[in-house]
Amino acid sequence: MNHDYSGIFSNYAGLEGDLIPILQQVQLKFGYISTQSTKEISKFLKISENQIYGVASFYSQFRFTKPGRHSIKICMGTACHVKGGQILSEAIERELDVIAGESTKDGRFDFHRVACLGCCALAPVVQINDDIYSQMTVIKLQEILGKYE
Ligand code: FES
Repeated sequence: MNHDYSGIFSNYAGLEGDLIPILQQVQLKFGYISTQSTKEISKFLKISENQIYGVASFYSQFRFTKPGRHSIKICMGTACHVKGGQILSEAIERELDVIAGESTKDGRFDFHRVACLGCCALAPVVQINDDIYSQMTVIKLQEILGKYE
């Protein structure tokens, strides 16, 4: 067993029902579920890697790519969508060469399209890390991205 995982696995009996709590612990420790993690879990629980992906991808809390240094969330809720959320999302994909749910190749950003961020009056809204940006345009977004190295 890989040393990095023994601390996590030692809390579990190795039953199939341990999968979700183990995935949660792995994500907490490493920030995401890597291919290596899936292999280790597969060995420990004696279930296939495909089964693990099948279960884990059902839950939006699990991520399979390494998080970027900064996290971009584009609101796709109704108010933001109507006011250009989709255009902002496409601009991010184009500018940063990244697709939703993944991270840029240089590890600078991860990018997500999310449901209502709870401040619809400010639509369209973009969140970068803990900062909320309101009434966003593509031009404003390009300027703001430069602040995050
Ligand atoms: S729809 Fe975007 S903040 Fe509510």
